[in-house]
Amino acid sequence: EKGGYDYFMLKEIAEQPKAVADTLLGRIGASGELTLDEVRIPQSVLREADKVVIVACGTAFHAGLIAKYAIEHWTRIPCEVELASEFRYRDPILDPRTLVIAISQSGETMDTLMALRHAREQGAKVLAICNTNGSTIPRESDAVLYTHAGPEVAVASTKAFLTQLVACYLLALYLGQVRGTKWADEIRAVVRDLAQISGQVERVLETMEPVRELARSLADKNTVLFLGRHVGYPVALEGALKLKELAYMHAEGFAAGELKHGPIALIDKDLPVVVVVPSPRGRSVLHDKIVSNIQEIRARGARTIVIAEEGDEAVVPYADHLVRIPATPTLLQPMVAAVPLQVFACELATARGNEVDQPRNLAKSVTVE
Ligand code: F6R
Repeated sequence: EKGGYDYFMLKEIAEQPKAVADTLLGRIGASGELTLDEVRIPQSVLREADKVVIVACGTAFHAGLIAKYAIEHWTRIPCEVELASEFRYRDPILDPRTLVIAISQSGETMDTLMALRHAREQGAKVLAICNTNGSTIPRESDAVLYTHAGPEVAVASTKAFLTQLVACYLLALYLGQVRGTKWADEIRAVVRDLAQISGQVERVLETMEPVRELARSLADKNTVLFLGRHVGYPVALEGALKLKELAYMHAEGFAAGELKHGPIALIDKDLPVVVVVPSPRGRSVLHDKIVSNIQEIRARGARTIVIAEEGDEAVVPYADHLVRIPATPTLLQPMVAAVPLQVFACELATARGNEVDQPRNLAKSVTVE
C-alpha cells in the first residue's frame, strides 16, 4: 500500500502534484469564476464580515499564516491567525461579523475543535478547511471546504499542507469575488497561476537528489536554522517543524528581518542555515534585504542553504548549497518552496535512523487538549 515507496511520507510527498490538482478540480466555473458551492454560508454574511480569524495547530497553523497574506491582499478584510490551543483562553473578540476559519487535516484535533466551539458560542460563523470527510470539525462547522489530498497516513503532514494552501487561496479569491474586491479577470489570472503549481511541484520533485545528498551530509549536526520573509517566513517555520518532528533535531524558523534583533548571535561556524528567498521580481526590496542577510550569515562562517527562484543570480555567490524552485507569483511561492524542506527533513530522519512515518511521541491526530 506504500506504492513501492519505503515510507508513506515519501509516497505522500510524491502525490502532491495530484493532490493540488484534485483540490482545484470542479471549483472553477466556465467563465473563470469560482464556484465554491460547499461554502454554505449566506453570501450576505460573507459580504458583511469585518474580520477573519484563522485557528489551527502545527502545520495547518502554518498554512493559516500564509493564508493571512492572501486574504488581506485579495479581500482587504483584516485577518488574524491564532494557535487553536491559545485562542479561547484569552477572551477573543468575536461576533456575528467574524468569519472563523478552522484548518485541520484530520478534522479531529481537539484544540481546533474547542476553538471553533468557542467561536460559535460567541455567534461567529465557522468555516472548516478539512481533509477528512465527515470528521468532527466539519460536522460542527457552519460550512466546509474540503481539501482533496486523499488519506494522509504519515504523521508528518505534507500533501495536506499544500492542499490547505490551495483551499485558502480559493477561499480568499472567493471572498474577493463575493465582496467585489477581486474582479473576474484578476481571479482568472490567479487561477491560471494556481493551475500551474501542480506541474511546478512535479518539476521540483524531479530535482531533489542533491537535497537528499545534502541532508545526509548534515546528519551529525545538532541545530538547523530556517529564515524567510513575507510568505517565506511561515515556510521557514514549517521547515523547522518538519525537522524537529522527523529528525529530532533542534530547529528554529525566523523572520529574516528579526535576525539583527537577536538570533544572529546564534550564527556560528558551520551552522547550517536554510534561507527561503523571495522572488527578485515583484517584491524586489525584500529580495535584496534577504540577500544581505545571507551575506551576513556567510561572513560569520555558517553554511548557507539557499532556496531561490530559477534565474535569481544575485544569491549565487553566497550560497554554499543552492536549491532552485520555479518562478511563481509571490503569494504562491510557499507551495513550491515547502517541498524541498519536506524532502530534506525526511532524508535527515532516514540518515539518523529514525522512524519516518511514526516519529517518537507523536500521533497522527491529537484528540486531547
Ligand atoms: C506536522 C503535523 C502536526 C499537525 C497538527 C494539526 O507535520 O502533522 O503539526 O499539522 O497536529 O493536525 P490537523 O491538521 O489534523 O488538525
